Amino acid sequence: MNRTTYTLALFAVLTLSNTVAWAEESLVTAVVTPFRQKEIVAVDNKTYQDECGSCHFAYQPGLLPTKSWEKLLNEKALAEHFGENAELDADTLKIIRDYALANAADKSYHKRSRKIAIATEKGEAPLRITEVRYIKRKHHELSDKMVKGNKDVKSLSYCDACHTQAAKGVFDEDTVKIPNYPNWED
Ligand code: HEC
Ligand code: HEC
Repeated sequence: MNRTTYTLALFAVLTLSNTVAWAEESLVTAVVTPFRQKEIVAVDNKTYQDECGSCHFAYQPGLLPTKSWEKLLNEKALAEHFGENAELDADTLKIIRDYALANAADKSYHKRSRKIAIATEKGEAPLRITEVRYIKRKHHELSDKMVKGNKDVKSLSYCDACHTQAAKGVFDEDTVKIPNYPNWED
């Protein structure tokens, strides 16, 4: 091998290994990214988790758009929160409201949040996640006896009764188990 050939060969090897390294990295990114962005960002604010997770599972802010959280998270609305008093002191309310507004569906790139943002873009802000068209559509095949009439579910609002990984922000149908209806898919 003369010097030029050697240099060229070395250059080719280096280029190739670089390409392989790059390909590997992008393969990893390609595998990880859709998964990471597919679902909904999990709650990572302790105040929100503690205060909003005491009566029901702490709904991720990415489940509703900004305009819904604005309606839900103010002094007046929380005093009459779905028939319950969920009032907070001013400092706590500010932390929770800021957190929810910053992480609302329309500010997220995660797939389900995007779908919720699109479904709620027009019209009145829904006060419930279960009123969002996309969420309704995903559940329309469930019968009343599986949900309301099911003593271990009671309402579609209790996402974590069926979605075993709801707290992680994972709602994929592979992770669903309906209590008392092991064969719901049939
Ligand atoms: C004192 C109990 C209580 C607390 C505290 C509470 N909630 Fe609720 N929440 C309820 C009840 C009751 C419902 C209605 C559930 C039903 O219809 O079955 C509800 C429903 C909701 C819904 C609508 C769910 C649906 O049907 O789609 C959202 C969103 C919600 N709460 C957010 C919050 C947030 C955010 C906080 C924290 C600021 C909070 N809640 C704190 C009792 C509470
Ligand atoms: C009674 C059990 C039950 C409850 C409660 C429930 N779900 Fe579901 N959910 C299901 C089932 C079953 C499916 C799969 C439907 C299908 O693919 O036919 C599903 C599907 C979904 C999907 C789509 C998943 C996918 O892979 O396409 C989302 C998102 C979702 N649910 C969110 C929620 C949220 C948010 C709540 C609470 C507000 C909730 N669900 C409450 C049973 C439930």
